[in-house]
Amino acid sequence: MQRLDKVLSEAGVASRRELKGIIRAGRVTVNGQAVRTPEQKVDAAADTILVDGQPIARPGVVVLMLHKPAGYVTSTEDPRDPTVMELLPEPYRSMELSPVGRLDKETEGLLLLTNDGALLHRLISPKHRVPKVYEAEHDGESTAADVEAFQQGIVLRDGDVCLPAELTPLGPGKSRIVLHEGKYHQVRRMMASRGWYVRYLKRVAEGPLELGDLPKGACRVLEQEEILQLQA
Ligand code: URA
Repeated sequence: MQRLDKVLSEAGVASRRELKGIIRAGRVTVNGQAVRTPEQKVDAAADTILVDGQPIARPGVVVLMLHKPAGYVTSTEDPRDPTVMELLPEPYRSMELSPVGRLDKETEGLLLLTNDGALLHRLISPKHRVPKVYEAEHDGESTAADVEAFQQGIVLRDGDVCLPAELTPLGPGKSRIVLHEGKYHQVRRMMASRGWYVRYLKRVAEGPLELGDLPKGACRVLEQEEILQLQA
């Protein structure tokens, strides 16, 4: 257990002096109750601490963004194929990070890994509808009818119904797709239900984060500010 003002200052919320004012003004809640004493003892790992209704960064939380290349499976162990874990440099490889959702072996792009179970569940739960943006290369050319079908909610060939999604045709053989859930092989199966075979698939964004120019196979540690944006 640590003092509330110490926890908030370590999370980078404000200086110890500024925090006294912030806490006394009732802007900080711990497990739903406003706490007005900076000396109050809290458990930074277990308590839900909000400042102006926003979560604070938690100690020890690591979130990595990996640019996954094709040929690696999203798994911590696999008897046949190389896993995304093998792409992580030390010390991250030994940190017991878990992939946030999964990308197929042949899919490239943005994959998050974290040791924060609560954040992981929040990001993969369809309830939170975190947008995931994909660029697909396929045969044929997607049409206004495909855009409409995606908006309505695609029914997959096995009868499974998808949440409404966005498809933007990008000219012959290219589409941009935004999903708010993550079913098995979802983009490939949604496109197949419209008659398009996906040859290449890349995830370029997830929630507030963009892959940007992170080189293929490389990873970077998210800044506290980016983790807070993800938590929000
Ligand atoms: N949809 C797919 O089909 N594959 C992925 O890897 C991600 C989304």
